Amino acid sequence: MSKNIIVTGCSRGVGLEICKVLLEQGNTVYGIARSCPDEFKALQAEYADYLFFKSVDLADCENVRQNVFKDFCGNNVRIDGYVNNAAVAYDDIITNLNLNRLKVMYDVNVFTPMMMTKSVIRNMLLHHAKGSIVHISSISVHTGYKGLAMYASSKGALEAFSKDTAREWGALGIRSNVVVPGFMATAMSSTLTEEQRSKIYARTSLKAATSIRSVAETVAFLLSDKAESITAQNVHVDNGTI
Ligand SMILES: NC(=O)c1ccc[n+]([C@@H]2O[C@H](COP(=O)([O-])OP(=O)(O)OC[C@H]3O[C@@H](n4cnc5c(N)ncnc54)[C@H](OP(=O)(O)O)[C@@H]3O)[C@@H](O)[C@H]2O)c1
Repeated sequence: MSKNIIVTGCSRGVGLEICKVLLEQGNTVYGIARSCPDEFKALQAEYADYLFFKSVDLADCENVRQNVFKDFCGNNVRIDGYVNNAAVAYDDIITNLNLNRLKVMYDVNVFTPMMMTKSVIRNMLLHHAKGSIVHISSISVHTGYKGLAMYASSKGALEAFSKDTAREWGALGIRSNVVVPGFMATAMSSTLTEEQRSKIYARTSLKAATSIRSVAETVAFLLSDKAESITAQNVHVDNGTI
């Protein structure tokens, strides 16, 4: 069945790939990011009636209801799925921690996704939709990396939030899961040196970067009815990182 799915961070990287997979599978996608690059516009041209975009700064967590659920997908649209993919990585060692940078990261990575989840669940209840929520976490929560303590803490918060969302709303058929990717070659990780990359690959069983496509396919699976019995889970797509 065709579903209406919100994807944040749709402009590039994993979010863009998730949009592609969902559209290929016949879904309608409501994409959110600040910018709308040519690659996204090309996808919009290809899927004119199925891919919508709104430029929203997700750091503005106080106005997310207005910006997304009133100005973009209103109550007349039944939301079947929400992919919380947009994120920023504030990486530094803890002794350099800057509170303002930490707060901005938490606004994007944690507070906005929580406020989005609130509105998404309300929409699902309104439409009696057995919806599916998927948060994108990071392997850094589970393995630890030097310099990623603040970033990993924001993703750890999402993992806890997802599990409890699943417990709270499962009786009404609403599912919540987390996809936990390993290192992927995207803009977010572009500042890493070859040496740093090699060290990361050495910690994986497959000795390579995680495939963005594999992450996107897993997200699409969790949103689909094929995953109807899967909730409250963290699904690792990380090349077997240890
Ligand atoms: N790359 C990795 O190695 C890796 C590993 C594990 C997990 N992850 C996770 O995977 C997900 C996707 O990461 P990625 O590598 O694809 O990152 P990316 O290439 O940096 O893309 C991030 C996306 O988030 C959007 N975004 C960032 N800040 C925003 C804001 N304030 N308002 C609206 N949109 C915003 C960006 O769009 P605009 O800039 O256009 O706003 C962009 O579409 C993230 O949750 C990340 O934490 C990544």
